[in-house]
Amino acid sequence: MSTGRGLEGIVAGDTDICSVAQGQLIYRGYEIHDLAENATFEGVAFLLLEGRKPTDAELARFSKELVAERALPTAVTDYLHAAGPMLRQGQSTPTAVPMDVLRSAVSILGNLDPESQDNSAGANLLKSKRLLAKIPTIIGHMQRIIEGKPLVDPATGGDPSLSHAGNLLYLMTGERPSPEAERVTDVSLILYAEHDYNASTFTSRVIAATLSDMHGAITGAIAALKGPLHGGANEAAMEMLREIGDYVDAGHTVDEFMQRAFTEKRKLMGFGHRVYKNGDHRAPILHTLGRKMAEARGPEYLRWFELGEQVQDIMLHQKQIHPNVDFPCGMTYYAMGIPVPQYTPIFVASRVSGWAAHIMEQHANNRLIRPVSNYTGPEITPWNG
Ligand code: COA
Repeated sequence: MSTGRGLEGIVAGDTDICSVAQGQLIYRGYEIHDLAENATFEGVAFLLLEGRKPTDAELARFSKELVAERALPTAVTDYLHAAGPMLRQGQSTPTAVPMDVLRSAVSILGNLDPESQDNSAGANLLKSKRLLAKIPTIIGHMQRIIEGKPLVDPATGGDPSLSHAGNLLYLMTGERPSPEAERVTDVSLILYAEHDYNASTFTSRVIAATLSDMHGAITGAIAALKGPLHGGANEAAMEMLREIGDYVDAGHTVDEFMQRAFTEKRKLMGFGHRVYKNGDHRAPILHTLGRKMAEARGPEYLRWFELGEQVQDIMLHQKQIHPNVDFPCGMTYYAMGIPVPQYTPIFVASRVSGWAAHIMEQHANNRLIRPVSNYTGPEITPWNG
């Protein structure tokens, strides 16, 4: 018996939620370009969680429910304060990154949730909305603590008049974002919301399939998303571009960097994809929006897109490998002044909607997920032989 390494090409189950396999990216029957242009993140989250496009009244009610759930319990805020020294560049090296702290904060939310042990559809939906509403507040408060600044509106979890995307930016900075920044962030959240049986979503379904709880499954999914081969690539891509920027500043060219990377067989972060071999549908959407924002903000922001475009051209012509959504995301969030270690937590603020939809789908029609392995170890040997 043998298996494709990394389960490549294996169909691991059915889902009504998303398809990436037919040359298009579809959320419950709606195509991603259409959603990016015409929907809001809240509308997409409703679609994923409730299983249908909301009416205007349903969307308004859903948005209001999220606003009402934004504030954090004191125990979570206390934990974020306690985590400050673990995150800060002080005299010693930080022992945690924001993804680690977000993971633990979500786990604590589970300890406090009145429905934590209830896997019914109704309880799962309530918990999904609470998590969706509170994760941006965790990110915002954490960033303020890292910067040694007061929390933004801890009693309400932000400004009730702001959208999910706008409030996320506001909670991090204390400043209400421009409509352009809010819209670009909103589109990035739409693009990140759902992606079929990717590693973190599959993790969440494996956990849910043991009949474990929503918060546990989301906590596990956050751990899976952190890795640079998955969601962590948006941070890693920007770090790599900064390295390229330093290299160019030292008198070299992007091409020299790339040829050295190819010789060293280095993985270029933000490139390649397990499923999309002819390009990630989401990448050009975000690249176009991010570039426009960088152009408006000035040459020091546009520079990263210009460097990134050189990297993309060389990758495509010499390796036939396209950028994935994490590549333009890195440059876009950088152009918006978002601190790099918060890029993957922001991915969580969106993907939690997809994870929760999958966890509910798993619980609604459950069977334990338990594959077998192909044993390649030694032959049986007597212990006392
Ligand atoms: N940089 C350089 N080479 C890459 C590459 C990258 N980012 N992505 C794939 N390749 C190369 C591989 O080295 C391999 O070459 P080989 O056949 O000469 O060994 C070939 O392309 C096939 O790649 P493979 O490793 O089989 O792809 P995979 O499906 O196992 O991995 C990723 C997919 C996403 C893990 C991989 O492309 C990657 O590590 N990308 C960088 C991290 C990233 O951006 N992740 C976010 C994904 S949305």
